[in-house]
Amino acid sequence: MQKIIWSEKLATHIPLIDEQHRRIVELINELQGNLERGELTLANQTLALLVEHKVAHCAYEERLLKESGYPFLKPHKHAHDEYIEECRAYLRRAQQGEYVAQKALALVKPWMVSHIQGEDLDYAHFVKQHHDKGAEPTVPWHLRTLNRFFPNREK
Ligand SMILES: [Fe+2]
Repeated sequence: MQKIIWSEKLATHIPLIDEQHRRIVELINELQGNLERGELTLANQTLALLVEHKVAHCAYEERLLKESGYPFLKPHKHAHDEYIEECRAYLRRAQQGEYVAQKALALVKPWMVSHIQGEDLDYAHFVKQHHDKGAEPTVPWHLRTLNRFFPNREK
């Protein structure tokens, strides 16, 4: 099965968001690689890391949308919440010894691509316009958490 290949089609052109998306895509590809090699313990560890990153990323994204005055924050957050709940349910089952990492991959892989190309590209234009008007593009309260999850991000 082909892994997700990062391309311009997935770019929001909001640097921090793209960096977080790329890291999440890397983790999804890593999860697939673990499963293809039959490394189930590693797959469950990658799944846990992936869920942590998704939670941090969605919180960051929602804060960014709120600060930008994005009018469709509520449905966007709703999509995040439902997805994270499904991911957490798989993670809980995996941690209880059930073999669900393959099912989790079947959820996260298409979801991530269609969410970026759909809902995320919808807000990207709006947020960029907001920043072009002179608003600060970063969210200071969150930087400490972000540095923890995405250590390679620009300081
Ligand atoms: Fe999103």
